[in-house]
Amino acid sequence: MREFAMIKPNAVRRGIVGEVISKLEKKGLKIIGMKLLKMTSSQSKELYKEHVGKDFYEKLIEFSLSGPVVALVIEGPRAIEITRHIVGKTDPLKAMPGSIRGTYGLSVRKNVIHASDSEKNAERELKIFFDENELLNYELDY
Ligand code: CMP
Repeated sequence: MREFAMIKPNAVRRGIVGEVISKLEKKGLKIIGMKLLKMTSSQSKELYKEHVGKDFYEKLIEFSLSGPVVALVIEGPRAIEITRHIVGKTDPLKAMPGSIRGTYGLSVRKNVIHASDSEKNAERELKIFFDENELLNYELDY
């Protein structure tokens, strides 16, 4: 199973990319793809297409384009559920203390990291940023 995640521009600007990735690594999740990039408008619109028409949509797109992001692909059994558990709820106020959003998040918009909510969305979203040959096959040491 593969999960897509994206560390948002505010987290890159705050210099907490390493800490965010560290939380995923410490859990034992395997990162098989990673890129620092500035999204194009079409990538952002494709990523967030299920939110078209919502009142926060325009601001969401604008924020997502405001600086570099880190795109991640995570692989493993239950990768989606486990990643989303570590990431925490969308609103940092409702996210568990110790989760990424619970630790670093201040607002719903600047909630530090995005993580796909289903296998179908994860596959669709990771393909916006990665070619199949950019995803690496290796074993973790424990
Ligand atoms: P993310 O996981 O990136 O998926 C969609 C994003 O929309 C979500 O995280 C939030 O950052 C943002 N979002 C969701 N609901 C709201 C809201 N009510 N106001 C502002 N932003 C929101």
